Amino acid sequence: MVNTLAFDVYGTLIDTNGVVEKLTRHVGNLSVDFSNTWRNKQLEYSFRRGLMKNYVKFSVCTQQALDYTCEYFDVDLSPKQKEDLLKQYNDLPAFSDVIEALTSLRASGHNMYAFSNGDPVSVDAVLTSAGLRDYFDGIISVDDLKSFKPNPDVYHYFLEKSGADISHSWLISGNPFDIIGALNTGIKAAWLRRSKNMIFDPWDYKPTVTIQTLPEFSGYLDESLR
Ligand code: 2OP
Repeated sequence: MVNTLAFDVYGTLIDTNGVVEKLTRHVGNLSVDFSNTWRNKQLEYSFRRGLMKNYVKFSVCTQQALDYTCEYFDVDLSPKQKEDLLKQYNDLPAFSDVIEALTSLRASGHNMYAFSNGDPVSVDAVLTSAGLRDYFDGIISVDDLKSFKPNPDVYHYFLEKSGADISHSWLISGNPFDIIGALNTGIKAAWLRRSKNMIFDPWDYKPTVTIQTLPEFSGYLDESLR
């Protein structure tokens, strides 16, 4: 059975902590905390923009979150240094298990899409630079709707744009809020729990399956088709 797979991008395929090395040059041993605060603020800004119906591109959330994080840690970065960090956002690495999993899922014939808060140009850039672009049939971005995950409209839009049958559709994401967003619209969801420190929100939703590495998902689908 062929499934339609929606892969979240940032935090699932692409490691947003790929900025840590560059950050270390600017903020020393604050780099991990800085990177986490930056990422959390970026997501918070997208949630708030979505609720306020005051859409800006995800890259603007990223840039404003960087400004916030600099203030929070009292770090004085020049405009050039900030620009350099923001550029790195289009040049982040893939997690090390991604190519193996995508290769195997493609070989099984599934329809595969990158499904992201990022705008299509940014997502295309980061997937291309990480060597992942060719694994996907397309990029489906919330930018078309001018809203953000986890607005149910964006998950319905994914189904519409991919032409997928909901009963054979999956979201694969490392972000619990994204998993809950997909389940809320009836799409099956595989939570990629890359670290034991990651906590699934104790709401009335459970991931359809929880995996520790991306290749496990490919194994899970093969098994469930037997
Ligand atoms: C993405 O949509 C949520 O950042 C995540 O790619």
